[in-house]
Amino acid sequence: MSMQDLMQRNIAWADAQKKIDPEFFHRLSMQQNPDYLWIGCSDSRVPANQVVGLDPGELFVHRNIANVVLHTDFNCLSVVQFAVDVLKVRHIIVCGHYGCGGIKAALDDKEFGLVDNWLRHIKDIYVHNKKEIDSLRYHQQRVNRMCELNVIEQVNNLTKTKIVQHAWKRGQELSIHGVIYSIADGLLKELQLDTRSTKAIDPVFKMKVKIKV
Ligand code: CO
Repeated sequence: MSMQDLMQRNIAWADAQKKIDPEFFHRLSMQQNPDYLWIGCSDSRVPANQVVGLDPGELFVHRNIANVVLHTDFNCLSVVQFAVDVLKVRHIIVCGHYGCGGIKAALDDKEFGLVDNWLRHIKDIYVHNKKEIDSLRYHQQRVNRMCELNVIEQVNNLTKTKIVQHAWKRGQELSIHGVIYSIADGLLKELQLDTRSTKAIDPVFKMKVKIKV
């Protein structure tokens, strides 16, 4: 499909959208008011809005390879900060997916280029959980368990940020969820680690924040 085809598809999409809801674009042009921030993988098979059935305007989205949240990544942190402090989203959803290429690559020793540096962080998760991962019989099981552990790690990374800790200290309603998507059947699974307060954070990462009112 050429770029021109995509432009044609865009016109068709905008027309169809206007037919369903004539005020749709006008309404969205006034403001966005999403309740959710989605942090997912860049993988083309995991389109954020579609898998949870949300329209434009309902989901604030950040995607990168292997849905990683790093405390040195200003891109991701800026998205989180804006979503929490300005848009006041009520939920942050970290969504991994089974069979993630980024996770597979991190478990391999092949070189892919710059992205290897990004995936180094996932190797660290493997090192910390080596016993459990190595005890699994099949490579696919090891990859998939690593995909789950990666989501858990990224949820924990979010709770360690000042952005999230400040929000909880000032009493803002904010919960963080870890979910994993199966490309094979289109279904999401919750990883039962909903976090809504600083209680679960390792004291090492808890900040004694003073809130200026
Ligand atoms: Co992926």
